[in-house]
This record gives sequence, structure tokens and C-alpha cells, in this order.
Amino acid sequence: MTERHKTTDVLVVGSGIAGCAAALSAARAGANVLVLTKAQRPTDASTDWAQGGISTTRGDPDALKADILEASDDTADPAAIDVLVEDADEAVEDILIETLEIAFDETGTGAYDYAREAAHSENRILHVDAATGTHILRPFLNYIDDHDRIEVRQDTAALELVTHEGRVYGVLSDETPTGHPIFAGTTILATGGIGALYTRSTNPDDATGDGIAMAALAGADVEDLEYVQFHPTAYDGDDTFLLSEALRGEGAILRNGDGDAFMVDYHPQADLAPRDVVARAVETEREATGEVVLDVSPIAFETAFPNIAERCRERGIDGDEIPVSPCEHFLCGGIDVDESGRTSLGRLYAVGECSRTGVHGANRLASTSLLEGLVWGLRAGSDAAERDVDAEIVEAPELRNSDPDLPERFATEKSIRLKRTMDEYLGLERDLDEIGRASAVLRRLKGEVDAYIRTRTARDLYELRNASVTALLIARAASENSTSRGCHYVVSGDDDAPTEPETESEPTSPIDGS
Ligand code: SIN
Repeated sequence: MTERHKTTDVLVVGSGIAGCAAALSAARAGANVLVLTKAQRPTDASTDWAQGGISTTRGDPDALKADILEASDDTADPAAIDVLVEDADEAVEDILIETLEIAFDETGTGAYDYAREAAHSENRILHVDAATGTHILRPFLNYIDDHDRIEVRQDTAALELVTHEGRVYGVLSDETPTGHPIFAGTTILATGGIGALYTRSTNPDDATGDGIAMAALAGADVEDLEYVQFHPTAYDGDDTFLLSEALRGEGAILRNGDGDAFMVDYHPQADLAPRDVVARAVETEREATGEVVLDVSPIAFETAFPNIAERCRERGIDGDEIPVSPCEHFLCGGIDVDESGRTSLGRLYAVGECSRTGVHGANRLASTSLLEGLVWGLRAGSDAAERDVDAEIVEAPELRNSDPDLPERFATEKSIRLKRTMDEYLGLERDLDEIGRASAVLRRLKGEVDAYIRTRTARDLYELRNASVTALLIARAASENSTSRGCHYVVSGDDDAPTEPETESEPTSPIDGS
């Protein structure tokens, strides 16, 4: 074991809203905190890309709880919803308004301009333009960076969890070519989502499922991974980007290729139906009529949504009709955690999109992801700090770096294969009889990546390993669930027949690719 290592009370991996909140509350509780982030710029976190806003209760917690449960198709965990909603307003007030002094948009009379999004029964979403994530994350990162007890290390990836007898003692980072051990009293994963597993996503490119894969490989429980949420209105072009649900909240309308406002035929809430319903309807209408557009003529598009209008202009769209199609947006499941963010492994926490709190069930309600990251980040940070667990130096494996000659394009080519497999078999609709094929491709791919990892420590290889592990877990979860609920929509498959992979022998572990 190398003598060169670092220790910290609390180690946070990831620097979106959940990681920042965890770091801040751990520091406030007296811990020394190290935040590792593989990001080189603040824009590399999904939080920075979040548009719509952050939900509050607006004085009616029961109404928000009911909307979350209904959007989830009654699959969310009521106890987790209670935690989220009961902490919501205080967390927003304390951290976002008082500590970070975020100037959420106001009406002309100085009251907050609460917005509405799909499946919300009332206007209760705080926002800044439709670039809320940027306006939250940048001051949050500056704040924790200035904090005496918090050190933020950018451009540093966690590669493996250091584990011993079911407990986590920190991580191996890529600060040295053979892995640099960072030992921690407690470790909090806040690594975000899985957008990089699909060709089109609203996430940054480095959302490779790192935390989920590292935790699962260390033996942590994961759950609800089949529930991959596709946003119904991403720009339907090569350079895709999100067209916030807030546009439909204001009155923009989806129209098919015949010009019909079709959502009234699909759901009583029409354009403001739950996201999974709208996403499937958009895809159905695209197939039937050639295209779907978001008609922004009913709203003050340029003045109310200047950043989105600007991005449309950059792509040459200057009319009122923006071509849209669904694309990957959010993973509702993840590493299973309790109300404090504790995982099934000792000394390990998970918060934000990489975690599964139970709040979202099979389909997430709009503008609850920043809120969940904030609430669980605060809870996990203080719980981790208050446990007062010392960092212990345990045996940490050294990674290999004997073969620096990784064929150029290896990671890129494998990543394209992985994305195509996920697009084809684990998209909006799943055919259970075919998911075995996806698993077989993914297992082969992981085997090829593992073979390189045995001799070469490189961040893009580990990201690919993490993406293929997470993809395999999603495929397994999807293949084991024959019931269509929320984001998991099964188009065929025989409940009684197990899905057969293309390979002759099925490894006992879904993530054993060798
Ligand atoms: C959006 O602005 O449409 C996305 C909001 C969310 O995913 O919660």
C-alpha cells in the first residue's frame, strides 16, 4: 500500500446540488470535508443544466405530496415523500434564499413568480428564468469553495471504493496513475445520473453512472433502475437541448405533423400530463404523423424564456414551432438509501440522482430533482458528520498502469456501442424478450473494458466500466419487471418465460462481464 494518501472526516464525490448540500451541512456540523469532482467546469454537473426550477409546497404540503404520488403512478414511497415535502420549504429558505441569496424571479409586485410544470396541480415552482440550475449551482460552488472546513478538488475522479468487510473507507482517486487512496470517516456519493448511457440526453456527457457502478460493485443495494425517465420535449436535432416543461406550464402546446393539439386525446391533463405519458404520446404521434412540434405562439416566449429562445435561434429556429422528441433525462432509481441517505454498506451514503430515496417511484414529478438533492444532501451531510467516525487507514489496492498503450478510439467506439444498445432495447418502450440481447452485448463490452482495466488506469476506461455496469443493472431490472408502470413501459414479453440471453451460459452476476 502506498504511504501517500489523504484522510478526511467526510468525503463527498460529486459537485452538483446534492454534493454541495452534503458538503455544507457536514461542515456546519463540524466535520472537515473533501469534495472530489471530476468536473473541470461548473457546467459539467447536471444541476447546471436544470432549467425549470425547484418545487416548494407554497403552503399546501398535502397537495404537493398528492401530486408526487400521482405522477409516480402510485409507486412512490409515501414515507420518503413526507421527508421531502416536510423539509422542502425550510431547505429552500435556509440554503437557497438566506445563505446563497439566490434571486428567484418575482412578479411586478415583488412576490415570487411561482411557475407551473406538468402534473403539478398549482403554481409552486421557484425559478430564475429557465436557467435555475446555473443560478443555484455557481453560487453554491463558490460558497463551499470559500468555506474553511471544505476543500474542493476539481478534475479528480473516484475510480473505486475502498472497502473492507462491508464498510467503505474512502476511494481510490485518479490523482496518481496507480490510484491515490483517500480515506474518510464517511463517504457520500453524489455522482449524478446516467445520460451518457444514451445517444441523446439532457445531461452533460460525463454522466456515466459512476456512483451507482462503484457502489454496486462494492455490494450496495440498488433499486428501481428500470425507471429511466425520458423528457418529452428535447429539441429534435443533432445538438439537442431541453425545452423546459415550464413552457407547457405557461401555455405552449404540442402539435403533431397534421397541426393537431393531440395531448387532449391522451390524458385529462393534456399537455400537462405526467412526463412518461407525454413522452410516449410524442413518440406515437411522431411515428404516425412524421413530427411533433412545441407551439410557443400562445406564450411570451422571447421575454419569459430568453435563454431557450437564444438556443433556438442558434439552431436557426426563428418561428413559433420547435421540433421536439423525447430523450433521456433522469434516473428515478439508483443506490438504495434511507431517510438520511445511508446505503446498505457501512459508512457509505448516496444523495441526488445516483440515489434511490423512493420519492420518485416509477416516474418523477417535475422540479423535484433539485429539491431531492438539496434535502437529502443536507440530511446525509449532517448525519455523516454527526456519526463522528474517524478516517481509518486500511489496505487499499494499487491499480495497474503497466500498459499505457490504449488503442486510440477504444473508449469512444465502445461507448457508441453501449449507447446504441441502450437506445434500442432500453428506451421509451421495452420488449422483455429482447432485453437479453442487450445484456449479452453489454456483458461482452464490459469484459473487453475489464481486460484493459487490468493493465491500465485511465479515467475514460473507468467511466466506460461504470457505464457498462450501470447499463447491465438497468437491463437486469427491466428484464425482471413485466409490469408497465411510469417510465418502464413493456410492449410485449411473456410473464412466465424468463428472458434468455444470446450467450450460452448466463453469469450468476449481471455485472460479471468476464
Ligand atoms: C424541465 O425544466 O422541464 C425539467 C425539470 C425537471 O426535470 O424537473
